[in-house]
Amino acid sequence: MVKTSTAINLAAIIKKQLPEELTAFMQLAGEVAQRHGQRLYLVGGVVRDLLLERANFDLDLVLEGDAISLAREMADVKGGKVTTHQRFGTAKLRWDDWSVDFTTARSESYPEPCALPVVKPASIKDDLFRRDFTINAMAVELGPSAYGQLLDLYGGRSDLEGKLIRVLHERSFIDDATRIWRGLRYEQRLGFELETVTLRWLKRDIAYLDRLSGDRLRHELELALKEEYPEKVLQRADALGVLARLHPKLKGDEWLAGKFREARCLSVPDASSFGLYLSLLGYRLSGEEAEQLISRLRLPKLAAQALRDTISLKNELASLTDPELSPSRIYSLVCGYATPAVMANALAGESAVACQHLNLFLSKLRYIKPALNGGDLMRMGIAPGPKIKETLKRLLEARLDGKVKTKRDEESLVKRLLAEAER
Ligand code: CTP
Repeated sequence: MVKTSTAINLAAIIKKQLPEELTAFMQLAGEVAQRHGQRLYLVGGVVRDLLLERANFDLDLVLEGDAISLAREMADVKGGKVTTHQRFGTAKLRWDDWSVDFTTARSESYPEPCALPVVKPASIKDDLFRRDFTINAMAVELGPSAYGQLLDLYGGRSDLEGKLIRVLHERSFIDDATRIWRGLRYEQRLGFELETVTLRWLKRDIAYLDRLSGDRLRHELELALKEEYPEKVLQRADALGVLARLHPKLKGDEWLAGKFREARCLSVPDASSFGLYLSLLGYRLSGEEAEQLISRLRLPKLAAQALRDTISLKNELASLTDPELSPSRIYSLVCGYATPAVMANALAGESAVACQHLNLFLSKLRYIKPALNGGDLMRMGIAPGPKIKETLKRLLEARLDGKVKTKRDEESLVKRLLAEAER
């Protein structure tokens, strides 16, 4: 439970919720920083989650000083590897299975809406003020003289208690429209609500989403689809007109929510992957609309293929509605499509028979392989070249249709084929 007394110390919560290794690391880093006369803070999402008692081990440390030097000094003590971004004054230290981010406290100004910010070193107060929402704009002191002290300058704790997502200033969504998607994610993940004025500004600034690059917009969609219940984020995004900014034909409705829930029930790997969720989201688009979405989001090859295949397979489903299709015929009709596309059609296709065939492909047919390989066939007397490929195909078909069951059966079949060829 969140307490809203004026001064609060999180040392005990940190000890309880974070692994010993990370707690010891933060204490040591706080001591080193204080020795240099600098202040070090734990900031952002992890502070929010400490107060909410939610698991989160992604440590973001902010130093009023040179964060890169501190990360290097800590690497000398812990071992591990530091990667740095001089331009942003940030460093990541990785050791064993752990990683911690270091950032120099900074202020940000936006030369124009949705451009990347110009940053300059600043105080922790400015650093917290540049952040997206009050609940993400709290810090915890790590220096030994004030270890664990919460710094809550913008009412974060009170908003946690009121379950509110609130921006820190009126231009927040204009500066960075990715915050629109971020706000929806936090709202649905935490069961919070956008605060009234924040919601008004969000609606007012929705058009700024169109200024974001495809890469940044796609990243936001990826994050939304990584949530535990992405359908909730998409439903809210639809209701607010945010989803339509990706493509006007996308819908975040009950149909989609049902398909997402069914996808998570599939006992197959990738059931909650970006590719499958995206294919379901795009399922009701036409080929042309899918292309528009692909180019708006600059979808990488695999994801674009999954979406294209989804639509093509949807348009070909009629060929899979015959209940008498043999397994090898089903295989040949389906094997060329990307797996998420097959899954999406198995979940969303309208013909029960076609869906059954797709499920058979997914659960069984796609794993079936002949026991003999090209080398075996050459040893049996088949000439290298296209004949090998052709024979392997025949063997696979026979396997799929249950006409051969063992390696011996396959050898007999090959011998028969060779004898036929000689006749
Ligand atoms: N942040 C921000 N505006 C953004 C992105 C990030 O203000 N557009 C700030 C927030 O203070 C956020 C912190 O940077 O808490 C770290 O960003 P990120 O790792 O994306 O957020 P988390 O809060 O850690 O989110 P999550 O729980 O989803 O990982």
